[in-house]
Amino acid sequence: MQVTKGMVGHGFYDGHSAPQWAATAHVLSWLEETAAELDLSGSGTVTLADFGCSEGRNSIGVMRHLVPALRAHSDRPIQTIHSDLPTNDFSDLFELLDPEGGIFEDEHVYSSAVGGSMFRQLLPPASVQMAMTFNAIGFLSRRPLDRLPGYILANGPSALNPIGHVSEFERSSFAQQADADLRSFARARAAEIVPGGKLLIEVFGAGEALRTCDGIYDVLNDAVLDALKAGMLTQEAYARYYQPVYMRTLDEVMAPFEDSHSDLSTLFTLERSELYEIPVSFVEAFKQNGDVEAYAKAYTDFFRAFTETSLRLNLSDSADLDGLVRYVYTRAEQRVRETPERYPFNYIAMAVLLTRKG
Ligand SMILES: C[S@@+](CC[C@H](N)C(=O)[O-])C[C@H]1O[C@@H](n2cnc3c(N)ncnc32)[C@H](O)[C@@H]1O
Repeated sequence: MQVTKGMVGHGFYDGHSAPQWAATAHVLSWLEETAAELDLSGSGTVTLADFGCSEGRNSIGVMRHLVPALRAHSDRPIQTIHSDLPTNDFSDLFELLDPEGGIFEDEHVYSSAVGGSMFRQLLPPASVQMAMTFNAIGFLSRRPLDRLPGYILANGPSALNPIGHVSEFERSSFAQQADADLRSFARARAAEIVPGGKLLIEVFGAGEALRTCDGIYDVLNDAVLDALKAGMLTQEAYARYYQPVYMRTLDEVMAPFEDSHSDLSTLFTLERSELYEIPVSFVEAFKQNGDVEAYAKAYTDFFRAFTETSLRLNLSDSADLDGLVRYVYTRAEQRVRETPERYPFNYIAMAVLLTRKG
């Protein structure tokens, strides 16, 4: 079974991903400093590549910061590459990148999109100066288990709501898949990045106390269980459904690069790392204005944008898939509206900056 086809398209992801932008913006200064220090004394194209670009608004936003940082010390032509799964909705990205629009305000920026899994090499050897990924590598390349009967995410429910159970064997199967994926991703990028080039990996995940999955997956799980109780799906369908995502800790993200027995520690130097929390726009607005209806809608649209395609793929045997999907997100929104205190949401992100060794 395919794990995801990408995010909800037709502008929906772009319209509901302000938190992902905030998590990305936190590390833009790392990239700008890096861009300013890159050795661009050679000739030819300078290539920037973003993996997991989705519909493109955030991806282009990053490049709009990096282009002037590079241009400040080099006249070389710049290429931006925006990559995602072949099934991703690239249409808005292409419109934004239309050279007629001049989105980069620089005549010598050339952009392209590449469809393919980021867990394989997608670009020519030693052709990229800066590679990056934001809020994407938490999506697994494959389903590590057939069933996850006790909850819809391998990291398990929040401490606030002990509403399900994930065994240690189940959790560690996902952790191992996440580790293998991270290593595949880094090896693929190592082949593409020039010596001295940079790799930035930013992703949502788990801190010591708070995790990005808390709240959003509890309410999705509750809503799917509501559908089960309403007879809209079977217990077996619930057992087989899970989101193909794993919330790593920062230690798990750094491990492959710190392990002296790993080939990756010979391929990359770990320059910098950080675990951080970003304020979430709709949570902050709710604190200010108490408008629970607007909060429940923004909250539900936010997680719908990145969970719906996996939900559809998992439950595709359903006789009325559209009806089921509508029911689940309507129930989720209703639940947040009725008991917002049950589903507090925090965005925990982490990032590592690496240099490709020569
Ligand atoms: C939450 S979105 C993040 C989009 C954007 N980077 C941002 O920060 O707003 C995750 C993206 O990762 C993509 N993705 C998931 N698995 C992938 C894979 N194996 N290869 C490439 N992209 C993948 C999804 O299609 C989706 O567009």
